[in-house]
Order: sequence, then C-alpha cells, then structure tokens
Amino acid sequence: MTFLSATLDRVKPSPTIAVTTKAQELKAAGRDVIGLGAGEPDFDTPQNIKDAGIAAINAGKTKYTAVDGIPELKQAICTKFKRDNDLDYTTAQVTVGTGGKQVLYNAFIATLNAGDEVIIPAPYWVSYPDMVKLGGGEPVFVEGVMEQGYKITADQLEAAITPKTKWFLFNSPSNPTGAGYSWDELKALTDVLVRHPHVWVMTDDMYEHLAYGDFKFCTPAQVEPALYDRTLTINGVSKAYAMTGWRIGYAAGPEMLIKAIRKVQSQSTSNPCTISQWAAVEALNGTQDYLAPNNDLFITRRDLVVDLLNKAPGIVCPKPEGAFYVYPSIAGCIGKTSKADVTITNDEVFATALLEETGVAVVFGAAFGLSPNFRVSYATSNEALREACNRIITFCEGLS
Ligand SMILES: Cc1ncc(COP(=O)(O)O)c(C=O)c1O
Repeated sequence: MTFLSATLDRVKPSPTIAVTTKAQELKAAGRDVIGLGAGEPDFDTPQNIKDAGIAAINAGKTKYTAVDGIPELKQAICTKFKRDNDLDYTTAQVTVGTGGKQVLYNAFIATLNAGDEVIIPAPYWVSYPDMVKLGGGEPVFVEGVMEQGYKITADQLEAAITPKTKWFLFNSPSNPTGAGYSWDELKALTDVLVRHPHVWVMTDDMYEHLAYGDFKFCTPAQVEPALYDRTLTINGVSKAYAMTGWRIGYAAGPEMLIKAIRKVQSQSTSNPCTISQWAAVEALNGTQDYLAPNNDLFITRRDLVVDLLNKAPGIVCPKPEGAFYVYPSIAGCIGKTSKADVTITNDEVFATALLEETGVAVVFGAAFGLSPNFRVSYATSNEALREACNRIITFCEGLS
C-alpha cells in the first residue's frame, strides 16, 4: 500500500510558484533579478476597503459566518452581477469562497465523476487541468494559437465535445495571454453550446475589470441567456481591487449547484475569512472610481512591453485586450544558442537561460499548455519593465 494518494500522481505542483521561488533564491544569493512572474497587481488595496476590514475587526465581526458567505456580501454580489453584467441572481444562487481558486475547485469536486471531460482552451491558467484531475475528471485541451489571437473557434469547440463532456471552462480576458473574446466571438461559442444541452459552462471572469481600449468584457450567460440554467459565473475581488491576499472569490449559478458547492465547502474550509468578507462588501458596493485610472496605467505598461518585446529578434508579441499579461512567441529563437552556450530547444530552456544569464524571471509557455512562448506579467513599474525588456532584447540579440 502506498502512503500518498494515487490522485496526487496525476497532479503537478504550480510552475508559476516554482519560477517565483527560483527568482527569490537568486535574489537572496545577491543576483539582480527582475520578476515578471507575479499574477497580482503591484498596487495596494484601496484605503476604503482596508478601512472596512479594520472596522469589521473593531466591531467584533471576527467569528464564523454562514459557510458560503454573509448575506450582506451575497447581496452585494447580486447587485454587482446586475450592474456590470445584466445578470439576475438571488442570494440563494450565490456562493463565496476563499478566492476564486477555491470556488473553481469546489465546483469540480461537486460535479465531476471518473471519466467526465472538461474542455479547457489552451493556453490556460496553470491550475485548471490539475484541479480537474484532482476532481477525478479528464481535461480536454483545445488550442487557441497566436494566429487566432489565442482564442478558440466555434468549430474547434464543436469538435471537442463528446457525450462525456461535463464542462466547458471559459476564461476571458485570459491568464496567461490577456486575450479577450468580443461579444460576437463569444456568441459563436455559445451558439455551439446551445446545441449540446449536456454541457455546462464554467466561466472564470476574474479579469473582467481589466479590459482595455475598445474591448468590452462580456460573459456567457449574458451573451446567451439560454445558457443561464447551466452556467456557473465565477469572479472575485483579487485582481480588480488588488485584494489577492484577502482571499475572496465568488460565483453564481443554479441553486442545485450552489448547494452542492456549499456541501463541499462545509466539510473543508467552512466560511471564507469573516473580515475579508466585510472588506469585499465595500469593494463591490463602494466607489469603483479607481478601476479606470488603474487600467490607464496598465494600458501604458502593456503598450511599453509589447513595443519593446517586438524589438527582440525571434520574438513576436501580440497586443492583448486585457488582464496584465502578454504571451510572446519565441518560435524564432528555437534552435539558437545563447552567449553562455545554451541551445534553446524549448521555452522552458529559454526561460531558464534568460533567468540565469540576465536575471529576468518569466514563466515558460509549456506551463500554460501552448509553446514555444513565455508569459510576462506587466503588473510592475515602468522602470522595471523597461529594464527587463531591454535585457530580453540583449539576450535575443546574443542568440546565434
Ligand atoms: C484566471 C484566474 N482565475 C482564478 C484565479 C484565482 O484568483 P483568486 O483565488 O485570488 O480569487 C487566478 C489567479 O491568478 C487567475 O489568474
């Protein structure tokens, strides 16, 4: 009898955390490292939200709450869905978890049986396939290549659906590419889903508010109301409100599913942090005025990074619609050799050589299921971004 669970054999540790750890080690050893791996905004939680957390502590709101959230937060979430997405939900259709990550995980545990398939467009957020496997399901990947703007087409989705498909997992704007589906692009996918009533839709709208220029965010149940009864719409406060450490995510969907999610959470973590829930009430109900200036800052950074990376020989970097990532292709670098005599055979070798030879930490594309690429998080200062991109340019110029 083996001690560790066989399920764990199907799962790998998070590669993004591995890159961050490696960069920290080099930094601790005195190296000049610029980390472009972090998946979180570099600014502080807004003061009104912090004040709400402090007020909750001072008011003694420090005890257990209902398993899947306080009524005040559930109501704020319903109001948010109506205000931002024109979606009507009752509080009984809402669940709150310890980050969007827990909500996704709960949903898979609550619904997957052995052999159930989950369609995941690639490149994908690193955790999706492993969460599906932990739930006993099988991830089925559909590639949204660079030439398609890192998005999948209706035909690709149609071809991936089988009688075993339980979920289609959708994420726009995307981690790791920043790609965002327009209304028409999403409608083409929802038209396919309407024809397959056994397929449910799990949409991860975590980067909803990080949408730039002419791109307008939209979500499946809004684009196709016929999918409302089989859609779980997941969102959270981490990215838009710079609240990654507070750990609050939420979802809305059919009451039967929400009840099942509550059952999972009731036997694992119970309620998300009480203080954080009160802070999240303020995030959703309070002023939204800082979202636009934050986005202006992100647009400047995105444009800076895209311009500079496209100057690096062998790199092609499309300009994405949202989030705070770009996902350049390094196809033109494959087969070349670096100044330190490393032959770039794949994107993991590229990222390792880049870190060791220049001190720039990025996450290699294979971690996200589409190669040869790397992910840059531009949630850092213009100076750091300029310096990092210049080092990447020098590194690529040095390849022969
Ligand atoms: C696409 C996507 N979904 C979900 C999450 C989880 O966010 P949280 O658990 O902080 O709410 C992240 C975080 O990186 C993400 O990038």
